[in-house]
Amino acid sequence: MHPDFQLWASERLALIETCLEKHLPATNCAPARLHDAMRYSVLGGGKRVRPLLAFASGELSGADQAHVTVAGAAVELIHAYSLVHDDLPCMDNDTLRRGKPTCHIKYDEPTALLVGDSLQSLAFQLLTEIRLTDDPSVQLEMIRHLAFAAGSRGMAGGQAIDLDSVGKILNLPELEFMHIHKTGALIRAAVTLGARCGNKLSETQFKQLDHFSKCMGLAFQVIDDILDAEATTTALGKTAGKDAENNKPTYVSILGIKQARELAQELRQEATGVLGQFGTGALRLQQVTDFIVQREF
Ligand code: IPE
Ligand code: IPE
Ligand code: MG
Ligand code: MG
Ligand code: MG
Repeated sequence: MHPDFQLWASERLALIETCLEKHLPATNCAPARLHDAMRYSVLGGGKRVRPLLAFASGELSGADQAHVTVAGAAVELIHAYSLVHDDLPCMDNDTLRRGKPTCHIKYDEPTALLVGDSLQSLAFQLLTEIRLTDDPSVQLEMIRHLAFAAGSRGMAGGQAIDLDSVGKILNLPELEFMHIHKTGALIRAAVTLGARCGNKLSETQFKQLDHFSKCMGLAFQVIDDILDAEATTTALGKTAGKDAENNKPTYVSILGIKQARELAQELRQEATGVLGQFGTGALRLQQVTDFIVQREF
């Protein structure tokens, strides 16, 4: 990772952490156990790729960093909720997340269910309580976009397809459809919300940015599938080899590691090609892209 990018990212990770910490209810606020579990599931872990993407696209549109922080935190809250539910025994049945016992192991299953529900609500509370743009209709559009991305035609829908696909062999379009929903939708939301905090982009620019985020959303899950097969539990902070154990169709099970890596590189190139049209304003988006594809955890 380039040292300049490392510094840029670490400053923004600190902003996100402070924002999340501030808006998550305190543990001395009733119901204490639920609030403790929410904080446990969100704070002090994760790569925070979605907020970083929001910051990077916010730079493209000249957005106020304080506004992007809130937008990025909202997307991260939805993402954290999706992980808590994803780990439940009725879904992937995982015991380790971000290097710690999963929420339902540390607490219990009903608490994990409620943590997810509450994080989702908190995300929308932030987006409705804090003014992020001068134009209220733009903020409404951000809320609409995140709601759509989290729901049955976005992340939750992708998760439904994932569960329905256990033990099946999907063809490539089916696999792509699953991935762009379960993971791509929130990645796309992060990029869109970050950009919307700033100056209005032209219709063409917005379409280009959306094309970029579609490539990155898919690339992100392709790499996740590869790491599940190749990396160690220690490096990942979650149990490696779970996809094969759970009999999930993935890019690795369908294409093999080599072709899956080639696909990730193709998506990176496509994304980079799109960013080229934005010039130097897209530097951070390019660096986050490289991080997503090159990461080892
Ligand atoms: C894992 O996401 C789940 C997927 C959507 C692939 P991340 O790899 O972003 O998980 P954290 O937030 O860094 O823990
Ligand atoms: C999870 O995909 C996607 C969402 C949480 C929406 P995975 O099930 O592959 O994520 P990990 O590998 O458990 O992080
Ligand atoms: Mg899953
Ligand atoms: Mg999982
Ligand atoms: Mg995975």
